[in-house]
Amino acid sequence: APLVAPDISKCGTNPLSGFKAGADTPEGSDCCPPDSSQIMDFQFPKEEVFRVRPAAHLLSPSYIAKFNLAIKRMKELPADDPRNFLQQAHIHCAYCNGAYTQSSSGFPDVEIQIHNSWLFFPFHRWYLYFYERILGSLIDDPTFGLPFWNWDTPAGMKIPSYFNESSSALFDSKRNQDNLTAVVDLGYNGQPSTLSDLDKVTNNLAIMYKQVVTNATDPLLFFGGEYRAGTEPIRGGGSVEQSPHTPVHRWVGDPRELNGEDLGNFYSAGRDTLFYCHHSNVDRMWSLWKTLGGKHKDLTDSDWLNTSFVFYDENKNLVRVYVKDCLLTSRLGYDYQRVDVPWLNSRP
Ligand code: C2O
Repeated sequence: APLVAPDISKCGTNPLSGFKAGADTPEGSDCCPPDSSQIMDFQFPKEEVFRVRPAAHLLSPSYIAKFNLAIKRMKELPADDPRNFLQQAHIHCAYCNGAYTQSSSGFPDVEIQIHNSWLFFPFHRWYLYFYERILGSLIDDPTFGLPFWNWDTPAGMKIPSYFNESSSALFDSKRNQDNLTAVVDLGYNGQPSTLSDLDKVTNNLAIMYKQVVTNATDPLLFFGGEYRAGTEPIRGGGSVEQSPHTPVHRWVGDPRELNGEDLGNFYSAGRDTLFYCHHSNVDRMWSLWKTLGGKHKDLTDSDWLNTSFVFYDENKNLVRVYVKDCLLTSRLGYDYQRVDVPWLNSRP
């Protein structure tokens, strides 16, 4: 059977809960969303407008200003508003740090963990879908698209510089200070790279080819291990989830912090705005992978398709969504700016 969306009124009551990363991390109950008396069923957006998610390193000054303003307003919302910046970060914590059990699926002793399995891509797609719409509504711009950190192209491999301005709402002090202006290492394993920038770029392109093409020749290899009701967490992540997704988290996370906060730990990752741009590009990889043809198709397992989650939308309504409804970004009203994909030609 498919995993059923958690009952948020039971958030934080997981007796197994506990942050395994370190004693100083918060309890699952600290990540719980405000409760809601009503759950709505998802409806596809009806607007005429389409959102094009732009490459983060190519943003115009006015787009940067718009993004910054939207995040600033999100941070200024009341702390208990589900659209508030920290509330949105908590979504990641709640679904990943043991705040929910699978009690709605009949397994109250098994916790929910949407990483390291086939839930990784669809969960994050839905998460960003609502995040983007909340940002757009806060600036009254229904065309607002969440920028993607284009770490798979040479010109996009650094953290875009506007994230480093301390007066910006996009700024986060908890990042690895050695990497603020460095070329990202898509294979980062905790050791600083000794390669020259040029070699890092070549290496990164080879990693992209390997993870999206060579190591993802069928749907389960791309999406990750099967995860159904009753499944214990950690089935094994798909190729892109394992790398570059996780190395980028660790590479940005701050080694001065005990648990690699912010980006380097599940509970805190969503506190860095870079998280959403990082995941926008991860989500773009799903779309790109499907253009490769042949077996590069979405899973057809009905447990995957019928998995559900709940999120608050831009009107503060709690909405139930299904994996099967997120497979086509065009139906969700967005797409990605077309940019070169240099690694497709980087077969070693
Ligand atoms: Cu939910 Cu990039 O992790």
